[in-house]
Amino acid sequence: MTERIAVVTGGSRGLGLETARQLLELGYIVYVGVREVGGAAAALGERFGTIARVRTLDVTRDADVQALAREVREQHGALDTLVNNAGIHYDTDQVASRANLRIVEEALATNVVGAWRMAIAFAPLLAARTHATLVNVSSGAGALGVIGASRPAYSVSKAAMNALTISLAADLKPQGILVNAVCPGWVATDMGGSGGRPVADGARGIVWAATLTDSGPHGGFFRDGQPISWVDG
Ligand SMILES: NC(=O)c1ccc[n+]([C@@H]2O[C@H](COP(=O)([O-])OP(=O)(O)OC[C@H]3O[C@@H](n4cnc5c(N)ncnc54)[C@H](OP(=O)(O)O)[C@@H]3O)[C@@H](O)[C@H]2O)c1
Repeated sequence: MTERIAVVTGGSRGLGLETARQLLELGYIVYVGVREVGGAAAALGERFGTIARVRTLDVTRDADVQALAREVREQHGALDTLVNNAGIHYDTDQVASRANLRIVEEALATNVVGAWRMAIAFAPLLAARTHATLVNVSSGAGALGVIGASRPAYSVSKAAMNALTISLAADLKPQGILVNAVCPGWVATDMGGSGGRPVADGARGIVWAATLTDSGPHGGFFRDGQPISWVDG
C-alpha cells in the first residue's frame, strides 16, 4: 500500500497533538509541527517510532515552512493531508473598539497568514496525489452571525480563515484537493479551558476531514463530520 503522509501544525499539545496521534494510529507518516521540539509531541516517537516525525515549525516563519516542505518533497514527493491547526489568542478579555492591535496582528499572522503560508508551500505536494485534503481548523466563533463585541482578534481571524477556506477550495479542487474548514466544538484544551469535551472527540472531526476520499465534500464547514453554517456556526 502507498504510504500516506500528513502534516499537522500546532502539534505540541491540545487538538494538534491528538490529531497527530489519531493519524498515526491510522498508519500515516505524520510530520508533527511544533514551535519547540520536546514534550508530549516528542513522546509520540517513543510510541509510534519512525512514522512520527516531530519538526520545528512556527507557521509565521517562512524559513520553517520552506524547510519542512523541502523535506517532505525530498522524502516523499507528495503529501496526502495538511492540517492547519495552529491557533492563538482566544481574546475574551477585550472588545473590538479597545482591542490591542498587537494581539490582533499576532492572531492574524498565525491563524490566517500562517495557514495561508502553509497552503501555498504544500499545495504542489498535495496536487501530486490523485486526491488529497487540506483542513483548516477554524471555529464557530468565526461564523459571521455569531461574532459579537468580545474575542475580536480571534473571531475576525477565524472569519478570515473561513473565507480563505472557500477561496482555496475553489482554487485547488481542479487539482483533486478537498479543502474544508472544521470546528472541533468546545474542547478542553489550554485554549478551550475546562468544561469542554474531551480532546479526542474534537480531534475526531478533524481527522474525518483529513481522511476524506475523493468523493468527499469540499469547500464546506463541518463539526463532527456534519455540515454547519458559515453564518450561524
Ligand atoms: N479548544 C477549543 O475549544 C477550540 C474550539 C474551536 C476551535 N479551536 C481551534 O483548534 C485549534 C487548536 O486549538 P487548541 O484548543 O488545541 O489550542 P492550544 O491547546 O492552545 O494549542 C494551540 C497550538 O497552536 C500552536 N501554535 C500557536 N502559535 C503557533 C505558531 N505561530 N506556529 C505554530 N504553532 C503555533 C501552539 O504551540 P505552542 O505549544 O508552541 O504554543 C499549540 O500547539 C486552534 O486553531 C483553535 O482556534 C479550538
